[in-house]
Amino acid sequence: MVKCGKLITFEGPEGSGKSTQIKLLANYLSGAGCEVVVTREPGGTPLAEHFREILKHHHTQEKIHPSTELFLFEAGRAQNVNEVIKPALAAGKIVLCDRFTDSTIAYQGYARGQDLHMLETLNRLALNGVEIALTILLDLPPEVGFARAARRVETQNSFDRMESETLAFHHKVRSGFLALAAQYPERIKVFNAEQPMEQLAAAIAREAADVVGI
Ligand code: TMP
Repeated sequence: MVKCGKLITFEGPEGSGKSTQIKLLANYLSGAGCEVVVTREPGGTPLAEHFREILKHHHTQEKIHPSTELFLFEAGRAQNVNEVIKPALAAGKIVLCDRFTDSTIAYQGYARGQDLHMLETLNRLALNGVEIALTILLDLPPEVGFARAARRVETQNSFDRMESETLAFHHKVRSGFLALAAQYPERIKVFNAEQPMEQLAAAIAREAADVVGI
């Protein structure tokens, strides 16, 4: 087994194909001899999955306050980092995380309007010293993402709480992600999520191989 010990995060809008690409990259890295752990946010541990359920599907009259939403995302992250991500990295495994700290900056910061410096501080607290080696940003116009998500909704359940936000909200999310990519060009690599799945997977694998050193 190759000792890799790197955290790779996947970011992007609804319908950008993150789950498929994470599976493909996990297969590729395992094939190259790395031990791979796949996790997600919100979620990743039983407790954090409870928070996920609230964050995605809370639909009573009592609205979730934006600060409550933020704390739940960060609480789940602290749990996932300390229970799953840190131990896996310490054991030399590669961790692939479906969404992470950049989602907080894009959704709670750029789209909900919360103070970016405050969000960075909270992210740092939740990270507990963990560093992201590479972020794969799957970029897609919100209209295309919505159309893809709507096709999924036809066969599964309804749009979740965040997906039900307006198109304008999702445009702000996209701008947020692109602003982050411009701010951290070494870490965040942007991929056009509209290209064919195999082509995209090959491009992501090349980038990951470089960072992991395989
Ligand atoms: P998903 O895992 O199905 O993409 O759903 C997670 C939703 O939560 C998605 O709409 C993005 C949102 N989110 C935030 O708003 N802030 C965060 O910090 C994270 C991790 C996700």
